[in-house]
Amino acid sequence: MLTPQDNERLTRVGAGTPMGNLYRRYWLPAAISSALPENDGAPLRVRLLGEDLIAFRDSNGDVGLVGAFCPHRRAPMFFGRNEECGLRCVYHGWKFDRAGECVDMPSEPPDSLFKTKVRIESYPVWEGGGIVWTYMGPPELQPAPPDFEFVRAPATHAYVTRTVEDCNYLQALEGGLDSTHISFLHKQNAGDVTYLHDYESTVPRIDVEVTDYGYMYIGIRHLPESQWVRGYQYVMPAVQMRDGFGGGNRRGETPKISGHYWVPIDDAATMVYNFRYSYDPADPLTLDDAVAYETIAGRGPGDLLPDFRLKKNRTNDYGIDRALQKTGNFTGIVGVNTQDYALQEGMGPIVDRSQEHLGTTDRAIIVMRQLLLEATYAVERGEAPRGIDPSTYRSVRSFDRNIPRESSWQTTIAAEATARY
Ligand code: FES
Ligand SMILES: [Fe+2]
Repeated sequence: MLTPQDNERLTRVGAGTPMGNLYRRYWLPAAISSALPENDGAPLRVRLLGEDLIAFRDSNGDVGLVGAFCPHRRAPMFFGRNEECGLRCVYHGWKFDRAGECVDMPSEPPDSLFKTKVRIESYPVWEGGGIVWTYMGPPELQPAPPDFEFVRAPATHAYVTRTVEDCNYLQALEGGLDSTHISFLHKQNAGDVTYLHDYESTVPRIDVEVTDYGYMYIGIRHLPESQWVRGYQYVMPAVQMRDGFGGGNRRGETPKISGHYWVPIDDAATMVYNFRYSYDPADPLTLDDAVAYETIAGRGPGDLLPDFRLKKNRTNDYGIDRALQKTGNFTGIVGVNTQDYALQEGMGPIVDRSQEHLGTTDRAIIVMRQLLLEATYAVERGEAPRGIDPSTYRSVRSFDRNIPRESSWQTTIAAEATARY
């Protein structure tokens, strides 16, 4: 459990809040690159950490991210003309470049210097891994650009999507770091009822190894012939990497890693960036494979509304089918992320963590909260929080393997936990 004060500290992300200040020290996904497909194309609304912004790809192909409202009389820049390396407000024609400089002010006399005094707020942008990233913190503290393996993977081997989850980022992130729920919430075959009492497989031993970037989280389940070792990576503030669904990596079938970056839209909504890549250069990630995976997750192309929320959502109880719940799967809900969203959104916008009762398998969640709390205090002391230096996580990778019962995962899997792109 958390005190109400710590819960507030961890969940509020607006400008000037402790967690808002922490998030603003990292490069964050602001959009998918393909949402800005052409130079001088339509601007895109972006809401990030409670701030309303507009992204646009200028005449040179560079992306700008500026305030959503014109500094003249606060007209919406969304309706602006994206032309000749700038975004022009259509109310009185003021034009701003991607650095936020006012480059034209046709409603003022030609000799006026007013335009040199007016700026629109703007944030630096970096593109990589099919994602438009931004940094919203103090300019003098801007870290090197993000350097995850999924960002370096060739475009032929990687795929990224986004979904909106209507709850605070922290309960979504907690779900992503909670390996134990997989044996229950995502259990597909309720016909096999042994899972409820099969403690060997449903009560993993959890090792959490704190690192310079966050932690490595290892869930170890004892199977009759072997140990199933599932290694997640947590990179602060809110990245998780793991094997794909179905234990394909464990069986040596698919050299693929999946994960998420949970980026707060505001306190009550989260943009979830879902990435997946093949780490075998000889095995590209086909579009069919990517779409099939997203569809199993419940967020395939046919599963989303235009605003990237799920069609199966709280307004229709996520499509729960009580007959299916008795005979087909554990929840009666189809779609792995649909199951997650039903539970996480159903907790309410921000969980009251003073009311919870954490058990032994919640250890990864407890440590993550401690790291985030510590990092908010580090920022207040003027120190660098864990994980802002990309060199701390650039070689990090998740893993999922069956290993002999007598071996230790540290020696057996160490090489597999190292990125090679
Ligand atoms: S409000 Fe934008 S130019 Fe006047
Ligand atoms: Fe889940």
